[in-house]
Amino acid sequence: MSLRFANRFDGKVALLTGSAAANKDELMGFGGATVWRFLEEGGKAVVITDVQDEVGEKSAQQLRDAGHDAIYLHLDVTDEDEWKSVVEKTIDHFGRLDILVNIAGILDPKSILDIETEVWRKTMEISTVGIFLGTRAVADSMGESGGGSIINLASMAAKQGSGSYGSAYSFSRGGMLNFTMSSALQLSHLGIRVNTIMPGWVHTPFTDYLYSDPEQSKYRVDRVPLKRWGKPEDIAAGILFLASEDASYMTGAELLMDGGVSAGSVRPANPRSKD
Ligand SMILES: NC(=O)c1ccc[n+]([C@@H]2O[C@H](COP(=O)([O-])OP(=O)(O)OC[C@H]3O[C@@H](n4cnc5c(N)ncnc54)[C@H](O)[C@@H]3O)[C@@H](O)[C@H]2O)c1
Repeated sequence: MSLRFANRFDGKVALLTGSAAANKDELMGFGGATVWRFLEEGGKAVVITDVQDEVGEKSAQQLRDAGHDAIYLHLDVTDEDEWKSVVEKTIDHFGRLDILVNIAGILDPKSILDIETEVWRKTMEISTVGIFLGTRAVADSMGESGGGSIINLASMAAKQGSGSYGSAYSFSRGGMLNFTMSSALQLSHLGIRVNTIMPGWVHTPFTDYLYSDPEQSKYRVDRVPLKRWGKPEDIAAGILFLASEDASYMTGAELLMDGGVSAGSVRPANPRSKD
């Protein structure tokens, strides 16, 4: 059963980074699941942005074919000029900006001992510099639109060390939680709320290589108390909650959506069993 809230986002405009994978005929990312539901629940328009231009253009076209107002714009989140241009185009096209969802990210594939310094820097830069530039770029327009909501996609890894690969990833995700608190404090006078989501293992283009490998997939599902991979729709539900008026008293907060992984390391199949 899927829960829908008619007209929850009437007249609102959302901008999402790292959201090219929004084509319903292909595997969607967090951004994809979010934009479709946002528009079905009354959203006026979405601006999909990414560095994968062909994928993003195709997604935006599918949204328009379905009768929605959507554009795709190229945005490398580490580029300040591109941020400026994307926000200007958003206001030119749609007259306002209410919601920013920071999704863009990459994973560093090697240990601290082996990782190339450039890859480390890039991983850190996309998460931390990217959300700083984005937050600053949208703040005035959002304030002029009467306030808004910024949602930063971190990870359950934000509060854990990494035993092998992904240490720049975890480090930068931890930084996102802290930056969220500073921006919540500094943007509240503009009526802007800022919150973080910490997803667990979710099947999207980002994790497809793990999901498709039976050994890697089992390793993860075995550690999830809810015994399945997350779906992008699970996380979209959290993003849209934070974007909506239902979260009007939340700012500087973290929403953990990980199927229970972070609740603890002991997960008996049946706690009453003596096995
Ligand atoms: N899928 C998961 O299990 C999971 C769990 C926790 C956190 N996350 C985080 O959520 C985010 C969303 O990933 P997703 O699962 O929707 O997968 P996704 O692969 O659809 O989205 C990530 C997008 O970021 C884009 N990107 C990479 N570098 C960029 C840059 N410099 N500028 C702009 N865009 C850039 C990629 O092109 C890609 O489209 C990522 O940041 C990821 O770290 C994912």
